[in-house]
Amino acid sequence: MKIHHVGYLAKNIEKTRKKFLELGYGVEREVMYDEYRQIDIEFLKNGDYRVELIQPKSEDSPMFPLLKRFKNSPYHFCYEVADLEQSVEELSQMGYTVIQEIAPAPAIDGRKVVFLNNISMGIIELVEA
Ligand code: NI
Repeated sequence: MKIHHVGYLAKNIEKTRKKFLELGYGVEREVMYDEYRQIDIEFLKNGDYRVELIQPKSEDSPMFPLLKRFKNSPYHFCYEVADLEQSVEELSQMGYTVIQEIAPAPAIDGRKVVFLNNISMGIIELVEA
């Protein structure tokens, strides 16, 4: 599966962005608020590598508990797939569990995404191509 981005948790997206820019990353999409997930989200690019910065903005955010666990660090790879439902079914056969149901992601033009977890892999995200 082709990698779309690496998701990177940030305790403070402004400060974390500054550190990425110092290392030569550029802003691909300015920060925006995802109301559904209650996160600030921003895409950075370094050559072919795309990093998604995520800062949970509320304790009600489904991403908030991750902040305690991971602090400032990468926490998921996102893969581009042709058919979300089909890939979820295939990955379920391979031992993945859906942890966030299929929902549109405003920060990626409303494309549908889904999050899954596997005990030996951790969290992955799928985005519809
Ligand atoms: Ni992501």
